[in-house]
Amino acid sequence: MTTEAVAVGQLTQHVVARSIDDLIALDRLIVNQLGKRYDVHPWGVPEFELDLPGKWDHSWCATDPATKVIVGYVVASEFSNNVHAHRVAVHPNYRRNGIGIQLFNQLFAHAKMTEFEYCTAQVPYDNNAAFEWYLRHGFHVLRKAELKWYLEARGVTGVPEEDHLESDGDRHWVVRYPIQRLTSNLPTAIDDSQTEAT
Ligand SMILES: CC(C)(COP(=O)(O)OP(=O)(O)OC[C@H]1O[C@@H](n2cnc3c(N)ncnc32)[C@H](O)[C@@H]1OP(=O)(O)O)[C@@H](O)C(=O)NCCC(=O)NCCS
Repeated sequence: MTTEAVAVGQLTQHVVARSIDDLIALDRLIVNQLGKRYDVHPWGVPEFELDLPGKWDHSWCATDPATKVIVGYVVASEFSNNVHAHRVAVHPNYRRNGIGIQLFNQLFAHAKMTEFEYCTAQVPYDNNAAFEWYLRHGFHVLRKAELKWYLEARGVTGVPEEDHLESDGDRHWVVRYPIQRLTSNLPTAIDDSQTEAT
């Protein structure tokens, strides 16, 4: 498996409808493996199909062209002039091939063109692997004052602590990537024919 071996395309409503079984199976696999380091609640049809502001512009998926199965996704939506990644997953058999980076690069490039400022994500406080992965790829962790910005801008509740958020008994790091500091626009290059064919 190489980076070029998967097709990255927009996770549109049509793709979700067509590939809902793949998406649910992949999400369930990761819930079973990671539990609360990911989310104890697996996503089903309502969560994948939920219509959120900008979701169908900012969500991306990676498909194995040989099997036509979705092997990775980032589900994101927008708040104010920021993009929030709700769910990020790559199938364990396909990891360490740059697919996670490719998904985010597409998200960043598209969001930069449409002048979004930041990309944020919440990481369960004990998912060190994902937290370090975000930090290595240019995200930084929000601290108390910035966490207040995040809560207000997203309109969500929680208690900002020194380096994480407490909400409903759960702890999350909040990480943020400055989209406008990207030096160039990466190719968004996902034409519908390619996306629809996979
Ligand atoms: C986090 C996650 C999405 C990363 O996906 P991924 O496709 O493995 O990520 P990438 O391949 O882009 O990057 C992983 C590493 O592989 C390396 N890599 C990239 N291409 C590579 C290649 N061809 N050969 C070897 N290594 C490679 C990257 O440099 C990166 O190294 P790092 O660990 O030092 O950062 C994936 O591990 C995952 O699904 N985890 C479980 C779900 C989860 O925790 N989600 C986040 C919850 S908040």
